Amino acid sequence: MRVGIIGGTGKMGGFFRGVFERAGHEVMVTGRTTKLHNQDLVEKSDVIVVSVPIHTTVPLIRDIAPYLKKDQLICDLTSLKEGPVNAMLTSAAEVIGFHPMFGPGVTSLKGQTILACPSRVRPASFQRLASIFRDQGARVVVTTPEEHDRLMAIVQALVHYSTLCMAETMRLMGTDIMKALECTSPIYRIEMGLIGRLLNQDPDLYGDMLTMNPHVPPVIHAFGEATTHLRSIIEQGDMQQFREMFSDNATTFESYQNSAVKETDDLIEFLVNR
Ligand SMILES: NC(=O)c1ccc[n+]([C@@H]2O[C@H](COP(=O)([O-])OP(=O)(O)OC[C@H]3O[C@@H](n4cnc5c(N)ncnc54)[C@H](OP(=O)(O)O)[C@@H]3O)[C@@H](O)[C@H]2O)c1
Repeated sequence: MRVGIIGGTGKMGGFFRGVFERAGHEVMVTGRTTKLHNQDLVEKSDVIVVSVPIHTTVPLIRDIAPYLKKDQLICDLTSLKEGPVNAMLTSAAEVIGFHPMFGPGVTSLKGQTILACPSRVRPASFQRLASIFRDQGARVVVTTPEEHDRLMAIVQALVHYSTLCMAETMRLMGTDIMKALECTSPIYRIEMGLIGRLLNQDPDLYGDMLTMNPHVPPVIHAFGEATTHLRSIIEQGDMQQFREMFSDNATTFESYQNSAVKETDDLIEFLVNR
């Protein structure tokens, strides 16, 4: 199978180049400055993979869509799915949206999750691609573009938003990060680690995930309401309301609480013993 990765010179495209090559497929890539252009890559490939920055993805797919034929398959690796999948569906090709739920710094697909939206594809074509990922250790989870983007507004956007708010708060408070770290124990170090890790990533990627997902604004609005509510409880020193809020949320998290304690205990144990 000839696989063409548009954006294969980038981080995620480069990682998937390795995945397809390890599975024995011929891979060609384009970037903005490669000799090979997107249109030539499309003409020469059986499977076209789009892995460009989120804000570039839909316009780029619209540019190449007229050149795709029905015996070809187009997929993408974008962190959002509704826009890219709808754009891919304007072509004649088979269409799958993928979203790798990991950064390109991982060493392999072992233990990683890839979300998949098989939108207009024969079952055999989908299985052929999914088994390349599964054979290298990934879990492929099927979803729809709409469900994906709704879930990502919580799983990724809300988490990134609250993490950035914590960083911004510490900055506004003039916190000496190294001094604060000296006074932490592993559980707080895990939280601080997640903030430091996020701030080490590409701001454009995280900005696109927050600004281009239409399901994010209501989530951020609810976050604002939650902080206002909690602030008012704290400012009034209202322990009764605090317990109620705590218990309402404990009920929401009930089915995850035991594993949450176990998973974080394992992380703490790891940090203590490393
Ligand atoms: N990084 C992550 O943690 C992560 C995780 C999950 C999903 N993703 C998804 O992966 C995709 C790529 O992200 P990335 O982190 O790999 O970004 P990246 O490292 O900045 O790579 C972007 C790639 O797009 C290429 N590109 C930009 N415009 C192009 C054009 N018009 N034609 C051809 N190539 C073009 C760039 O080429 P040149 O720079 O060589 O010109 C580069 O190869 C995004 O859709 C993102 O949502 C990323």
